[in-house]
Amino acid sequence: MTTLPAALTVLLIDSRSDRAAHLPDIAQLSESSQTRLAQIHAPVRRKQFILGRVLLAQAAARQLGRDYPLVDIVEGALYPVFATAPELQGSISHSGDLVAATVNADRYGLDIENCTRKRDAIALSAHAFHADEAQWIAQADAIEAKRRFFLLWTLREAAFKAGLREHVVGGDSLLTNEDISPAWGWASAMHGSYRITVVGPQPCELALLDIGVPP
Ligand SMILES: CC(C)(COP(=O)(O)OP(=O)(O)OC[C@H]1O[C@@H](n2cnc3c(N)ncnc32)[C@H](O)[C@@H]1OP(=O)(O)O)[C@@H](O)C(=O)NCCC(=O)NCCS
Repeated sequence: MTTLPAALTVLLIDSRSDRAAHLPDIAQLSESSQTRLAQIHAPVRRKQFILGRVLLAQAAARQLGRDYPLVDIVEGALYPVFATAPELQGSISHSGDLVAATVNADRYGLDIENCTRKRDAIALSAHAFHADEAQWIAQADAIEAKRRFFLLWTLREAAFKAGLREHVVGGDSLLTNEDISPAWGWASAMHGSYRITVVGPQPCELALLDIGVPP
């Protein structure tokens, strides 16, 4: 019997959207989230932090079929957890103006990257990636090299967040004969200029749900 890939929903919000302009009162966050927020000073980063928790609460509500209050999202050692729904696991990512979150029954890691960011794909991959991956990038033309770079980079970060890789930089190659074939499940898509990638224990498919686009 073939197992169907897990359908993962990733919620997205642009921090410049009207929807993102109406942030919940800080008092609605859990005490631990308020404590973490107090340590963040840059206004953009504070907004991203709150939006990340708002997306997690909405994604948890979709999974549970009932409201999930912000106050029940508490800060774990590395990332937020669901105090009153321990069966759920969430992952957050921010890049540029976009904030994204996914909530699932298994631990999936999420990473997003704004691919308009100026990055020297060849130099960075030579430093950060396995030699096979760096060569796969170096042998492509500039546009394809950038695509390969952001795909591998988000895969490495998402796998790290899923607890499936020890490091983002270095370690094993994700390629076998130029195919991306790691021992874990993954899915990746573009959303405008953003690369959105999830990694987890099972084969998966992505559904993107953008709840706040800029005017
Ligand atoms: C943790 C890390 C993956 C975050 O990625 P990033 O691109 O900087 O940031 P993102 O916006 O995508 O993700 C941030 C979110 O990830 C979550 N997060 C942080 N550390 C995490 C971890 N270890 N596992 C899972 N999720 C984590 C948090 O929820 C955070 O959001 P928050 O601050 O609002 O709570 C990255 O900074 C990192 O440390 N990478 C490891 C570096 C590495 O391997 N170096 C080489 C060693 S040789």
